[in-house]
Amino acid sequence: MEGCLPQSASVGLPNRKSKKVSPFRGPDDFIPASVHRLSGSNESVSTHVRIPGRFPCCLSHNQSGIIRIRVITLSYINMAAQAIPFKLTSTAIPISEDGKYTYNQVALLIPHESLRREMNRAHSVLQTFDPINHPWQALYLNIWLKEFFVPCVHEHHDLEETILTPEMRKLNIETPDHMNGAHKSLLESLNNLEKFSSEVLTLARTGAQAELMTEKVNELKTCYNEMHDHMMEHFHAEEEFWSVAITKVPEKEWARIENKIKNTVQKVKSGEMFLCSILDSMGYCFKNYSFRPEDTRWTGEDGIKIILGDVPYPVRAFIFPGFNKRYQRYKTLITAIGGDRDVLNLYRTDGTEQAGCACVIA
Ligand SMILES: [Fe+2]
Repeated sequence: MEGCLPQSASVGLPNRKSKKVSPFRGPDDFIPASVHRLSGSNESVSTHVRIPGRFPCCLSHNQSGIIRIRVITLSYINMAAQAIPFKLTSTAIPISEDGKYTYNQVALLIPHESLRREMNRAHSVLQTFDPINHPWQALYLNIWLKEFFVPCVHEHHDLEETILTPEMRKLNIETPDHMNGAHKSLLESLNNLEKFSSEVLTLARTGAQAELMTEKVNELKTCYNEMHDHMMEHFHAEEEFWSVAITKVPEKEWARIENKIKNTVQKVKSGEMFLCSILDSMGYCFKNYSFRPEDTRWTGEDGIKIILGDVPYPVRAFIFPGFNKRYQRYKTLITAIGGDRDVLNLYRTDGTEQAGCACVIA
């Protein structure tokens, strides 16, 4: 067993509850596929194990030799995020293996990586969207679109139109017409999407005929897919254009524009939810809710510091967890559509709905 403990795996996470006794020698049943000693001390007996397909556990035993198994939650998940490879959803900016990007790239990646990941989740679950057999899915999609996704996209486009474009114009950087024009047609698509989503929900609640329902669901899916493709192309064009344009203005001027955007976004209604989505795409672990490894993250601690650098500690410690809990609810709503269960227990046939607590996903 001792040979299974790679000394190089030490990452210095102390476990103060552990007793200083001999290394774990459990029955063979407990020998995991990989074992990592996480304590910085060679004398520690606390051993974190990763059994494929199971929860990570911490094995330790007291002086009587009684083995205790503790499922690792937050400390492990925080550590796990460190090991997840970086991934970029951008098609315009080349991936950096270490998750580090230049300031002109980061400016685009911060909002776009977040929105693209949200859209990819929706795109994926809509493949199996089936409100005929699972009417609650219509409710989940409707809430996610109206309360979260559409407001975030509106705010993002508004910032580009009211601050980025005019400020850059003052510095003789003119946005190509086709990029500005795209916002108008994208917003029309979002309006249609909300309309179709409401109609599907109404049909689901009234128990409409399957034929009528199928027709409306297909309209909704077609509308979403068109919007999705258009938005992805638009983000690509923006990243190609702005990542170069930003380097053409003095860095000091760009910092001023960025600050103006930052100050504005803090005051908009969907700002907190958008911020949580941005941090989620970066793999940031909040106090009580954690990054889900399957999503992967696009940047490391440096990127997170850019976002959190100006935020005072009390806000991070006491206010962000509340924002994040609300955000995790939206994330749960969209991901749950890919399953077959009303995980938040929201749907009521009488048309009412429960608030639905995100605690179930903690
Ligand atoms: Fe954009």
